[in-house]
Amino acid sequence: MNDTALAKMENLVWQEAVQAPAWVIRQARPQDAGLIHEMYSRLSADSLYYRYLRPYKPQLEEACQLASLDDDRGFALLAVINAKQPQVIGVAHYILSLEDLSVAEPAVVVEDDWQGYGIGKALMAALAQEAAGHGVTYFRSAIHSLNARALHMATHGPNPSKVHWEDGLMIVERRLHENLFTKSAV
Ligand SMILES: CC(C)(COP(=O)(O)OP(=O)(O)OC[C@H]1O[C@@H](n2cnc3c(N)ncnc32)[C@H](O)[C@@H]1OP(=O)(O)O)[C@@H](O)C(=O)NCCC(=O)NCCS
Repeated sequence: MNDTALAKMENLVWQEAVQAPAWVIRQARPQDAGLIHEMYSRLSADSLYYRYLRPYKPQLEEACQLASLDDDRGFALLAVINAKQPQVIGVAHYILSLEDLSVAEPAVVVEDDWQGYGIGKALMAALAQEAAGHGVTYFRSAIHSLNARALHMATHGPNPSKVHWEDGLMIVERRLHENLFTKSAV
């Protein structure tokens, strides 16, 4: 291949990269339930197991509840590919503790093909910022001991976390500070 052909090809690759559909993070809306359910149905058994800590296949009803969370119960964010046909590729939400409204349980899942590209971290940073703004001071989560990526995410970063083990699960309590996260495209 000569230099001109190579330059043309590099230009094409560059254009494709620039034009590739980008993902954004935004609040879930009731009309997203179908897209959320479609994402659930594309998840591998491993991702589902790590997310729910048991063999489980979420139904449309669960997607509907998540997409319609009220502020007084929790909050849900989506990572969405902004294309003609939008696609949900990540979901993060928290549910407020019934006993203590300053504590919430977060959960996050990213579609398998999109894992490892920073989406989970971005979702959790945005979720923590939102929670702190609503008066939540702690996230408390239970993580499978083999879930290296989630353990890393929960125990690294700007916020101090306390960790203990319960029934083979790692319980991570992370303090939230409103101003520790940079604003993202929520
Ligand atoms: C856990 C999960 C949400 C992480 O999302 P993700 O988009 O894949 O993760 P990111 O690309 O944002 O990476 C997050 C961090 O994990 C680190 N990481 C990636 N792979 C890792 C591994 N195998 N071991 C340890 N750390 C790892 C990354 O380096 C990054 O940390 P850094 O920013 O300090 O470098 C995603 O993998 C997932 O959906 N898993 C299945 C469901 C699940 O486990 N949910 C969590 C329990 S509710």
